[in-house]
Amino acid sequence: MVLGFRPNKKNKRRSLNMLVSAAEMLKKAKAGHYAVGQFNINNMEWTKAALLTAEECKSPIILGVSEGAGKYMCGFKTVADMVKAMIDELNITVPVALHLDHGTYDGCYKCIKAGFSSIMFDGSHYPIEENVEKTKELAGVCKGLGLSLEAEVGSIGGEEDGVVGMGECADPEECKMIADLGVDMLAAGIGNIHGKYPENWAGLSFDVLDNIQKLTGEMPLVLHGGTGIPADMIKKAIDLGVSKINVNTECQLAFAAATREYIEAGKDNEGKGYDPRKLLKPGFDAICDTIKEKMELFGSVGKAFE
Ligand code: 13P
Repeated sequence: MVLGFRPNKKNKRRSLNMLVSAAEMLKKAKAGHYAVGQFNINNMEWTKAALLTAEECKSPIILGVSEGAGKYMCGFKTVADMVKAMIDELNITVPVALHLDHGTYDGCYKCIKAGFSSIMFDGSHYPIEENVEKTKELAGVCKGLGLSLEAEVGSIGGEEDGVVGMGECADPEECKMIADLGVDMLAAGIGNIHGKYPENWAGLSFDVLDNIQKLTGEMPLVLHGGTGIPADMIKKAIDLGVSKINVNTECQLAFAAATREYIEAGKDNEGKGYDPRKLLKPGFDAICDTIKEKMELFGSVGKAFE
């Protein structure tokens, strides 16, 4: 035992409560007509920026981890332990869910074992029968463990971590089939794309979104590819039933631009400007600003304890 540390009821309860499932926060978001942001993390700076901004904004937050990012950060256990330790050491009090993004079947089980509180099984590339079968199995497992589960129907366009989707719209009947399996949130393609949107992007298909929500009832819907979607489309998507919006690329672009500016201004050569704590600071601040802007747009600011 660490010198001076005595486990007591208070710190035991705290360690059990550090991560929450996303189910409750999304139900509240749906009822309150706002969306909770999923911000993908890539390293220590990303995680710290996301947690501190959520705390500052008094907003619930979902930290997304793709399989590639998990591998980059030395595995899912490293990620889960880092996030839990940061929540503790930074005194984060807002609800935080740690969520696998676009998980494979095997990846889902790895994250469950590593201590994630939420899982996305992306079975959209399987025939619908296989997507149903695997999603159903995982829904049972997650329910038993108190984790939340996101499923996907109809692939999201663009490329993420080497997975390329064409961006076709989901079939609302298939969405209903998957939603009825006991999942907590559903990602349905409605013309959204990961990464930057091309100049000739046709926009989101609101008719499809509306149909999906009508058929799936109260199911919280997830909008992937949150980077670069105009504010009016985001608001309309929330009005039509989107309760979770994923953002990844926009934080990466903000981080890269701020870091470039620092280096191009020669600041890394001024004094100890090369010290990583200084070198990475502008990028860190840019991630915080981006997340804050998104939380304001999604309407989740101040909702952490409602
Ligand atoms: P962007 O990278 O386009 O923001 O999309 C993120 C996402 O949907 C993660 O699943």
